[in-house]
Amino acid sequence: MNLSGKIALVTGGSRGIGFSTGKILSENGATVVITGKDAKRLEKATEKIPNSIGIVADIRNTNDVKNVVSKTIEKFGRLDILVNNAGIFPKIKKLHEIDEDEWNEVLDVNLTGQFRFTKEAIPHLQKTSGSIVNISSDAGLKAYQGFNADAYSASKAALIILTKCWALEYSKNKIRVNCICPGVVDTDMTKPFLRTQTDKEFMDNEHPLGRIGQPGEIAKAIMYFVSDDASWTTGAVLAVDGGESIK
Ligand SMILES: NC(=O)c1ccc[n+]([C@@H]2O[C@H](COP(=O)([O-])OP(=O)(O)OC[C@H]3O[C@@H](n4cnc5c(N)ncnc54)[C@H](OP(=O)(O)O)[C@@H]3O)[C@@H](O)[C@H]2O)c1
Repeated sequence: MNLSGKIALVTGGSRGIGFSTGKILSENGATVVITGKDAKRLEKATEKIPNSIGIVADIRNTNDVKNVVSKTIEKFGRLDILVNNAGIFPKIKKLHEIDEDEWNEVLDVNLTGQFRFTKEAIPHLQKTSGSIVNISSDAGLKAYQGFNADAYSASKAALIILTKCWALEYSKNKIRVNCICPGVVDTDMTKPFLRTQTDKEFMDNEHPLGRIGQPGEIAKAIMYFVSDDASWTTGAVLAVDGGESIK
């Protein structure tokens, strides 16, 4: 797969799935812009991703988001790929225990944040007939007994339908929009659920293939969606989850 000459923007590229995505896109020839909140973490990540720059941006802040896209265009003159990856996972609580601020925070980052980046990126992707990949979750596909972080599930389910809406709307510009729903992946986000051997075994066994995933396994699926190999694929929702969502 060849992404030579392509400019890719990966939100939340400082660690986890976003970092692995930045790396694989770069290894396949793209120039990569990664974003994150934490400047030091972002700088360390760019040191490990060839042909990358980092731009600090809080996805909750519209001006930060505008600045990322305008700096990308200023520096590289175009945008071909947007990976809407940045996200947070809240403390697991039942709906009646969540206060409105917690609810709003999750939606602000996981849903409105993706809206902000997509809105800014679309005019540039229209010029390149570019590609968007939204990172949703198995939690957007199904409910989990005792594991329902409601705002998280709501934000991730919304991204699935937005993928289809955006794919349809911008098909006339030949912009492809696809979505990936990971199962449990070994990143900082899931550390709280993998503290003990018992926790790890439980999580491994939740996945029919017998283990949790690695960030690189999600990144490879993202790589496929943004490449020409997926030239006739848009509006698709792909579970990359060791079979978790089929249970
Ligand atoms: N890990 C899983 O099991 C799993 C499963 C399904 C879906 N996902 C989804 O996959 C995506 C990546 O998850 P991950 O596990 O790689 O998470 P992670 O390791 O916790 O990384 C999250 C990334 O998002 C960035 N981010 C968080 N809040 C932000 C904000 N307000 N503004 C800007 N950037 C922000 C972080 O930047 P800083 O480093 O600066 O904080 C970081 O780069 C998320 O959308 C997540 O919901 C993950």
